Amino acid sequence: MSAAAASAGTRGTAMPSYDDRVIRQFSLAAVLWGVVGMTVGVFIAAQLAWPELNFGIPWLSYGRLRPLHTNAVIFAFGGCALFATSYHVVQRTCQTRLFAPWLAELTFWGWQLVIVSAVITLPLGITSSKEYAELEWPIDILITLVWVSYAIVFFGTIGMRKVRHIYVANWFFGAFILAVALLHVVNSAALPVSLWKSYSAYAGVQDAMVQWWYGHNAVGFFLTAGFLGMMYYYIPKQADRPVYSYRLSIVHFWALIFTYMWAGPHHLHYTALPDWVQSVGMVFSLVLLAPSWGGMINGIMTLSGAWHKLRDDPILKFLIVSLSFYGMSTFEGPMMSIKTVNALSHYTDWTIGHVHSGALGWVGLISFGSLYYLIPRMYGRRQMYSVPAIELHFWIATIGIVLYIAAMWIAGVMQGLMWRSVNPDGTLVYSFVESVKATYPFYVVRLLGGLLYLAGMLLMAWNVVMTVRAGQVVREPVPAVLATA
Ligand code: HEM
Ligand code: HEM
Repeated sequence: MSAAAASAGTRGTAMPSYDDRVIRQFSLAAVLWGVVGMTVGVFIAAQLAWPELNFGIPWLSYGRLRPLHTNAVIFAFGGCALFATSYHVVQRTCQTRLFAPWLAELTFWGWQLVIVSAVITLPLGITSSKEYAELEWPIDILITLVWVSYAIVFFGTIGMRKVRHIYVANWFFGAFILAVALLHVVNSAALPVSLWKSYSAYAGVQDAMVQWWYGHNAVGFFLTAGFLGMMYYYIPKQADRPVYSYRLSIVHFWALIFTYMWAGPHHLHYTALPDWVQSVGMVFSLVLLAPSWGGMINGIMTLSGAWHKLRDDPILKFLIVSLSFYGMSTFEGPMMSIKTVNALSHYTDWTIGHVHSGALGWVGLISFGSLYYLIPRMYGRRQMYSVPAIELHFWIATIGIVLYIAAMWIAGVMQGLMWRSVNPDGTLVYSFVESVKATYPFYVVRLLGGLLYLAGMLLMAWNVVMTVRAGQVVREPVPAVLATA
């Protein structure tokens, strides 16, 4: 049976099957875009060590490739992984097929079109210049259309559920979908002056505030809430244990989504933003430690009584170690939001270290673990083609992350200290270029870490290709007997 026929299912007959075609598409796209986004990351990391690597070609310049990297890893790699897992989780936990599968298919092609548009326009220098929202207005409209379709499919499926309870993972995916819609529409409001140029609807400090309300909540909802949805489904599944405390997961959900919304001003310390607003951002960031750690503990403790499984299950290693990095970056973030700490860390590579402990450690590892669980099942196999390759991926990725973030932490604190050193007569001890020179070895170490991480991603791509080739598309019937997730 062809993939299309298989995924078309048998609606209306005795054995309807889940709509898995779109999940397969998004899973494979996540792997492909992971390779692309991380390759660009490695390339710009090399450019920071050897700037000549732009070869004097404008579209290879650092300023154009950096947003390509962030868009590719966050929205293409992370986004496709989120689409794939949310479509999988919502069907299995609601024990029903997708609402409007044709619309789900449209979200796949629409999202790929958004990504390809980014790949073309960003190197051409077409940008709104708002970080993580660089794409120009025609692409923004396309994003809105795809996102509304996504919401219709997701919430429509929840509406058709055959189990009364809405499993907690769906709450996180649902919050991610709703919040991202709100953030995108508000922050992207702009006045177009030509096909590829627009100006923000806001000006001055209001523009900055809206941008970082968006920016921080992109972290909170795109890079966190959706991936917590993955955590609440794939860790219990892979560990074969129930969530440690379901009650805690509910408290975790409400506390996290309420608190994240207010923390944005920590990106604008010591700016023209009113001082009290900066303080509100700092206080809410400190409070955010509690729900973040509540969630982390809930995920890790799901393994209690089954810790031995960590020894020989590399997928569980990915999932659990991702939570350690989540805990680390959500401890570090609140610390960096304290104004006096931020006075040292801001503008330095410490921020880049923090970003990548969250991005590589949390977002990357939880996605790898979830995809390693999901992909073989989508191709009628119990496990990936090569389990030792998963183990190897885990170790090179972890060593890569440690090299990357340790180099950036040391470089960042060093830069901050150098910039603030003054002689007794008030003059600076170090010129800026001296701090750049001192940073050079750390940029090389970061590149090495990035190369290892990318090597792991390539290994995964090979393993996925072999799994797909050795497997076959299967139709998993929607169970007729009702049960809880
Ligand atoms: C092979 C892996 C990666 C490498 C080598 C890499 C490298 C880099 C480099 C060199 C920068 C620019 C730093 C600067 O301007 O000083 C950067 C920025 C960034 N990267 Fe990555 N990256 C990788 C993977 C990822 C992943 C998987 C994510 C997200 C899921 C990510 C998210 C970001 C973000 C958000 C920024 C912007 C940080 C900021 O503005 O503070 N990166 N990356
Ligand atoms: C309790 C949770 C967190 C808090 C309170 C927090 C706080 C902060 C602070 C204070 C900064 C530095 C702002 C600056 O000086 O410019 C920052 C930057 C950043 N954080 Fe976090 N963080 C948290 C978790 C995370 C996680 C889990 C991730 C990734 C998955 C992440 C991604 C980022 C990014 C991408 C930036 C750089 C933004 C930019 O300037 O481009 N954060 N965060």
